[in-house]
Amino acid sequence: MSQLDLAVTDELLATTRSIRRKLDLERPVDLALVDQCIELSLQAPTGSNAQGWRWLVVTDEKLRAGLADIYRRGSATYFAKQAEALAGDKGSQNAKVYSSAQYLVDVLHRVPVHVIPCVRGRLSDNAFANASMYGSILPAVWSFMLAARARNLGTVFTTLHLNLEAEAAELLGIPPKFLQMGLIPVAHTDPSVFRPVSRQPLDTVRFVDRWPTD
Ligand SMILES: Cc1cc2nc3c(=O)[nH]c(=O)nc-3n(C[C@H](O)[C@H](O)[C@H](O)COP(=O)(O)O)c2cc1C
Repeated sequence: MSQLDLAVTDELLATTRSIRRKLDLERPVDLALVDQCIELSLQAPTGSNAQGWRWLVVTDEKLRAGLADIYRRGSATYFAKQAEALAGDKGSQNAKVYSSAQYLVDVLHRVPVHVIPCVRGRLSDNAFANASMYGSILPAVWSFMLAARARNLGTVFTTLHLNLEAEAAELLGIPPKFLQMGLIPVAHTDPSVFRPVSRQPLDTVRFVDRWPTD
């Protein structure tokens, strides 16, 4: 393998964003592109090399409408609380995320592809087991989103439909021994939307050797 181009790699890592408003709702997505992204995601690590992942790619119009309805109902309480918390706050990063997330609720049924990553297992009260299960799908999820971004496909990792996980499982025939990790809307997008954003400064989140005392 040749030496990776660091500038390109770093740009991919620094600019892969949650895309909602700029998802192209009219342009169909070639499933071969989605398959490429899933195939790359299968290179991600899994605990004990279990590879218990399953990827449900939903294109059927009625099923997407059903998922969008579940997402809307599953997110209602969260959005009501957010609206209260952000009352009067218009310009902050969080207020923008909230408004963009609400937009997604309204258009989710029109996003051409919904991807539901699943993993074999259910939650338990054991931290090791839970970390192993989540850790055996979320790295793959992020790989999927990075691969999509490299193909100018917009994605956003969402979890709000999981408030009604059983309803989605029933709609799509997902067996109870598999846990859904989220719902990723996928659509073409304008590459100019991929930009770095401001985050917490490194010094405030990275400690060396010992946890700081104050
Ligand atoms: C665990 C997790 C759950 C999320 N759930 C949702 C969701 O249900 N709906 C949504 O619109 N965005 C969701 N997001 C996206 C976040 O809002 C987004 O990552 C965050 O605002 C930062 O924006 P960025 O990804 O563009 O940097 C989720 C992200 C994570 C990591």
